[in-house]
Amino acid sequence: MASLQVNQKERTFHLTNKYCSYLFRVMENGQLEHLYYGKKIEYLGQYDRFIERSYRPVSVGEFDSDLVTSLESIKQEFPSAGSGDFREPAIEIIQEDGSHIMEFTYDRYEVIAEKPKIPHLPATFCKEAHEAETLLITLTDSLTGAVAVLAYTIFSELPVITRSVSITNSGNNPLRVNRLMSLSLDLPDSEYEIIHLSGAWGRERHVERTPLRPGLQSIGSTRGISSHVHNPFLALAKPGSQEHQGEVYAVNLVYSGNFLAQAEVDSYSTTRLMIGIHPDKFCWTLKPGECFYSPEAVLVYSESGLNGMSQAYHSLYNKHLIRSSWTERERPVLINNWEGTYFDFTEQKIVDMAKKAGELGIELFVLDDGWFGRRNNDTSSLGDWFENPEKLPNGISNLAKKINALGMKFGLWFEPEMVNSDSHIMREHPDWVVGTPGRQRKHGRHQYVLDYSQPPVVDYLFKLMNDVLSSARIEYVKWDMNRCISEAYSLSLGKERQGEFFHRYVLGVYALYEKLITEHPEILFESCASGGGRFDPGMLYYAPQTWTSDDSEAIERLKIQYGTSMAYPLSSMGAHVSTIPNHQVGRTAPLQTRSNVAYFGIFGYELDPLALSEEECNVIKKQIQVYKRHRRLITQGTFYRLLSPFEKNETAWMVMDAECEHALVGWYQVLSRPNQAYLRLKLVGLDEMAVYFVEELGQRFTGSELMNIGLILTPPHKAGQDFNIAEKYDFSSQLFTLTKEISS
Ligand code: GLA
Repeated sequence: MASLQVNQKERTFHLTNKYCSYLFRVMENGQLEHLYYGKKIEYLGQYDRFIERSYRPVSVGEFDSDLVTSLESIKQEFPSAGSGDFREPAIEIIQEDGSHIMEFTYDRYEVIAEKPKIPHLPATFCKEAHEAETLLITLTDSLTGAVAVLAYTIFSELPVITRSVSITNSGNNPLRVNRLMSLSLDLPDSEYEIIHLSGAWGRERHVERTPLRPGLQSIGSTRGISSHVHNPFLALAKPGSQEHQGEVYAVNLVYSGNFLAQAEVDSYSTTRLMIGIHPDKFCWTLKPGECFYSPEAVLVYSESGLNGMSQAYHSLYNKHLIRSSWTERERPVLINNWEGTYFDFTEQKIVDMAKKAGELGIELFVLDDGWFGRRNNDTSSLGDWFENPEKLPNGISNLAKKINALGMKFGLWFEPEMVNSDSHIMREHPDWVVGTPGRQRKHGRHQYVLDYSQPPVVDYLFKLMNDVLSSARIEYVKWDMNRCISEAYSLSLGKERQGEFFHRYVLGVYALYEKLITEHPEILFESCASGGGRFDPGMLYYAPQTWTSDDSEAIERLKIQYGTSMAYPLSSMGAHVSTIPNHQVGRTAPLQTRSNVAYFGIFGYELDPLALSEEECNVIKKQIQVYKRHRRLITQGTFYRLLSPFEKNETAWMVMDAECEHALVGWYQVLSRPNQAYLRLKLVGLDEMAVYFVEELGQRFTGSELMNIGLILTPPHKAGQDFNIAEKYDFSSQLFTLTKEISS
């Protein structure tokens, strides 16, 4: 159970559950002082034993004649700048007279036995009241009338606290919010390593880990999307902490646009961790009576290393963020025609591909880019969301029927935020396209961005998409977004409000998702942004799965999927088997390795099935059977990373059900080496005393044998037998299926 202990006399607040404690208090000046965050404690009261005060030369004093109380070194919950604290602030508001000093002081608190929604923004939720409790702390700045409400929700069964902030202008003059972090957390020390997910198109979310040093270390995006380059996730791990042990503090922002995540180590070796909307180009005007809501930040504390952290995120997102009816349903094995045909297809070709795919056991055919307008390459037709009569003379509806007649579902690709110059929308509504007056509007992949900060644009796109989705039996939508936003400016916002553009854009995207999902609750949405350019918790609220990367190559995917799993569950990662030589990097990995990697995600194929040999078809049929057998385990089970591709030639991971009865283990080798060391793989999380049957070996082991001795990956070579595949080939892999047979 989560509990919220409020001591009104002491004015302390203690959020706790069986994993963690979060403690803060109201100071004598009415501001909030952070006291503790970490492993669960039994708090006896008497915060004064936990506060640190001593004379700091040159500090700015908070109280007259008191030389030790200074905001410069006090750990705070909602710091502002310019009044003694010289670290980066959580909030900055510019007032009518140009001043920026704010003094938010405590007004009241409220405890709610649930998780309130955040208007117009995605956020975690509870299905039942006992699953979480929320503490709302109201602070006011008496001079301006600004009111801040800090929301803290603690989940009962997870080491998770979520935080968000709202600012209301209860004064008489407009306020300009220049910066509002969703979370600011002051930790008492600075001995951490900072971990984040960094990359580029085709190599998204690679794990970066470096020691924290004095000063600011930050990641962020100002591209209008959360981006391929950085992910709105940041962790601070104690040195020596690894996958299975050690303390980790992590934050992840439920947001899909510009973000900033940073850690600041000050001169007293404390660390301020914060995450929120990127302040660059952000400025939100609040007229009297108006309110602004920050996105939600998800804070995780793990004392069981990075796996503990990731498992908390995975459970939270599977149970309390992804709200689609697909969360608990088996996801269909899909085939996507993009790498199989690119723009070059006819209706007959698609039907033939689908027929072949159906024979292999594939359940969903996804028609990717190129089905609409006059789209035969990427220079035209984005925005013309009606079928291309030359390619699909009988329309989408008839194509869907033909595919349904083969026993398969049908899905369709859209890129609703974009237009090409050569499109109806661009010709009829040039004012709907993002661009700064008088400046060149730069293209990205020949396309321009629709101004989703304008509600009529969102309404128009809803109508276009809804017409298509209502005209045919479409059971899946891939929503793509293939460029970053430049020349950010909206013709519909006045000159004072251009700082609202990026956030209003994201709100527009969320609004369109909301409308489509409400109208078509059964459709399975997959988000995409040139692969994984918008893989974030905000998207997962609407679309249960995300196309993880345009790089579908298995060996590249080891790093991408490993890094992605830091924060995101396997149920969210689209993972496809593609052809060889691979289209992104030219590598030729064995078919079995390609599927052994893709199994650990939402499985599918991205190739032309008509080009497969009979032998390949037979292998693929078996692969699909394997995935179907295990897909519930893969999407609902507990995922453990075992060996990191960032550290070794070998990668390994496993997924296990809640009862520790079934597990699937994947082991992968990049390069084969001559005369190499014997390899063994120690598993984790099993029932020590139980006996497990490992199907691929036809052998039985106790859980403790598998966890302490491990699986021997180099079995003895018998005369006349082929050498073990793990030793013989580059890019080899092995899959192990464990079933618990006997419990002690
Ligand atoms: C993006 C996507 C791909 C594919 C193409 C189509 O790059 O990530 O999967 O849909 O667009 O243009």
